[in-house]
Amino acid sequence: MFEHIQAAPPDAILGLSEAFNKDSNPKKVNLSVGVFKDESGKTPIPEAVKEAERRLLEREKSKSYLPIDGLAEFCQFTEQLLFGGQHEAVTGKRTHTAQTPGGTGALRVAADFIHSHMPNATVWVSAPTWPNHPKIFQSAGLKTKEYAYFDAASHGVDIKGLLAAINQIPAGDVICLHACCHNPTGADPTAEQWKQIADAVYARGILPLLDFAYLGFGDGLQPDGVALRELARPGVEMLIASSYSKNFGLYNERVGALTVVTKSAEAATKVASQVKSTIRTNYSNPPSHGGAIVREILADAALRTQWENELAEMRNRINGMRKLFTETMAKKLPSRDFKFIEKQRGMFSYTGLTAQQVDLLKEKFGIYAVRDGRINVAGITTSNCEPLCDAIAAVIKETGG
Ligand code: LMR
Repeated sequence: MFEHIQAAPPDAILGLSEAFNKDSNPKKVNLSVGVFKDESGKTPIPEAVKEAERRLLEREKSKSYLPIDGLAEFCQFTEQLLFGGQHEAVTGKRTHTAQTPGGTGALRVAADFIHSHMPNATVWVSAPTWPNHPKIFQSAGLKTKEYAYFDAASHGVDIKGLLAAINQIPAGDVICLHACCHNPTGADPTAEQWKQIADAVYARGILPLLDFAYLGFGDGLQPDGVALRELARPGVEMLIASSYSKNFGLYNERVGALTVVTKSAEAATKVASQVKSTIRTNYSNPPSHGGAIVREILADAALRTQWENELAEMRNRINGMRKLFTETMAKKLPSRDFKFIEKQRGMFSYTGLTAQQVDLLKEKFGIYAVRDGRINVAGITTSNCEPLCDAIAAVIKETGG
């Protein structure tokens, strides 16, 4: 039965971590997978999470199933965090949120939901995007196409190309947008550009699916919500896949959420029942622990403040490393301008390194990055920055630019 099956290629991102773990080079540096690292290169558990876990351990009385769409209070706090206190979509009961196993789980539930209820819709993804995006949508049976997004010359958003692309998307299709901290480029639209994007999306009759995996990693919880605030206009429909992997450091607890925004409260009730049916036939109901931690923190003013401070520390460290990397590269290779790294936001930057240069970094220096040139800026530390920049300068010189 299985003899004819060929091996699948390694995952473009997680496959690199597997290779990194096997590498015996003592100076190896992992700039591939998107996990936050502190100055010592460790991925810490936030203190607010530790405290919430202590409380949960004391209080927990049962491991019985959660409801299909998860912990109700977790879902309410998620909506508050995403939309802010008194958003009309929430108070008008036009939203429904389901707790999911991570942001990837939310995307997969969204994909299955779209496939069941809009089977002819194509999902448009940015060029470039997170490599798992098209795979998730295609695995659910959907077609995917790309829209223009990144301007390699300016290392920023190609807003003209993006708006022109949106204006070609047929009504009834879905556009997957990165709410902030675009993965893999680190290039985000400005507030004014988000307004133009929302105008174009709704003028065409396209459904936005907002992937919100990095809330708080760009400029802060409030500024990072600009895309959502612009898109969540009165009476519109949308989908939001959010994640607590990065901003709560809950990677392996798999906690995220799918929020559906409908035109009316009546539609929200019906859609909620369909989302539940999608989940029931997939993983039945979500794991509890991660969602319970998030609820505990968001429900307690002191814990919440502590978490917000810890999130700010993570964000500030990444932005500090952006500055240090730019300054160090300016010394090591003055002929090449890396200032754009400082302007980009979130965990990632598209360095402009070619696949050949990335391969050389791995082979010669044990430095792991994604082959499209994406680096995880959080993997840079004050001690590895100098050798890293030396290595980057060396491979750029070796390959002639
Ligand atoms: C990444 O892009 O590195 C992260 O989102 C982790 C993943 O699952 O790929």
